[in-house]
Amino acid sequence: MSILLSTLATTIGDSPTLKLNATARALKAAGKPVVHLGGGEPTFPAPVAAVEAIIQKAQSRNIKYTPSSGTLVLKQAILSYTEKTYNRPYAANQVIVSAGAKQALFNFLLAAVDPGDEVVFPSPYWVSYPEMIKLVGGTPVCVKGKNKLNVTASELLAAVTPKTKAILLNSPCNPSGRIYSEEFIKAVVEFAEKNNIFLVMDDIYRELVFDGAKVPNPCAYANEAKNLVLINGVSKLYGMTGLRIGWAVSSHTDLIAAMGRMQAQSTSCNCDLSETAAAAALLGDQSCVSELCKQLEENRNVLLEELAQIPQVNVEKPQGTFYSFADFSHYNPSSEELSKFLLEKALVAVVPGKAFGAEGYLRISFCADQASIIEGVRRIRRALENYQPHLAGINS
Ligand SMILES: Cc1ncc(COP(=O)(O)O)c(C=O)c1O
Repeated sequence: MSILLSTLATTIGDSPTLKLNATARALKAAGKPVVHLGGGEPTFPAPVAAVEAIIQKAQSRNIKYTPSSGTLVLKQAILSYTEKTYNRPYAANQVIVSAGAKQALFNFLLAAVDPGDEVVFPSPYWVSYPEMIKLVGGTPVCVKGKNKLNVTASELLAAVTPKTKAILLNSPCNPSGRIYSEEFIKAVVEFAEKNNIFLVMDDIYRELVFDGAKVPNPCAYANEAKNLVLINGVSKLYGMTGLRIGWAVSSHTDLIAAMGRMQAQSTSCNCDLSETAAAAALLGDQSCVSELCKQLEENRNVLLEELAQIPQVNVEKPQGTFYSFADFSHYNPSSEELSKFLLEKALVAVVPGKAFGAEGYLRISFCADQASIIEGVRRIRRALENYQPHLAGINS
């Protein structure tokens, strides 16, 4: 008999998106012409300044441990980005740099959430939220709106109980591409501050918006903002997912210090080369961000045109991110069954909506190149022309 794993290990699920990436990669490696529309990273190359900084640093051969919560140079670059973006100054002891926004978020949960505490977030949500909350012993409370993709502030806040430790928002939202409105943000910020509940803004897609849209600034509605935690990173902004740099900013200095202790006792610090590159990207020419947005906006338009050719599929125009979240329930109410069918029969990878808390939907990314987007959606259309879910369900 093999040695038993921990209870925690047996209750935490895989990341469906990372699993899908692995399956798509394996099929490609086996020579199958897979079109991957399930991805979560821009294909844009990293900014030249970031790459040059890595080369220079590597050539110095001085690649060492960095201060656990991040180098001062990078913290200062983050602080100036934060002040410009949120119009609120923060100090160096109010920021912690981590291995991606994901670790920043995880450190927050470790530092703030006790077993039994609840963390409230709207549906649809990023796939990792429930599992990350469970990993620290917390209880995920996912709020579904009457209007499927649109939770109102009153619906969200009605889910708050005395056990609620934090509210978690992601705007624009992965997977729906929606930006929460000024009224929504104002109501949640004011409620959370008044009731002493952490409000975590996962702002990883904040700059990736289209049609001149503006993402409401939570700091505009906060007083002391002690409960507010701003999470961000370079993964999506500069297409530097592989460098693994993200951060959290909060004027709750005890929280940031506690997150620092969690990090110091787990990963010690971040990669020296990655921190150097992230600082160079933040301090360098920002035209790459507007070019990326322009490219993504064009990709979105191409995707929407192609999706419009598939009968009975409903999709909202994404205001930001690089994801569309389309209702395919006419074809099959089980999004897992449908995405499995599409991967096997059409060789197109898309992510089932169930993973985001919205059954019947598929998340289709538009961060791939336009030829792949067109080819992928056309394959989906052809595969669905004679699709008989009840038979496909049996066979696939
Ligand atoms: C909503 C959301 N938050 C956080 C992350 C994690 O980003 P990072 O690569 O910085 O860890 C992702 C990545 O897909 C995301 O979609």
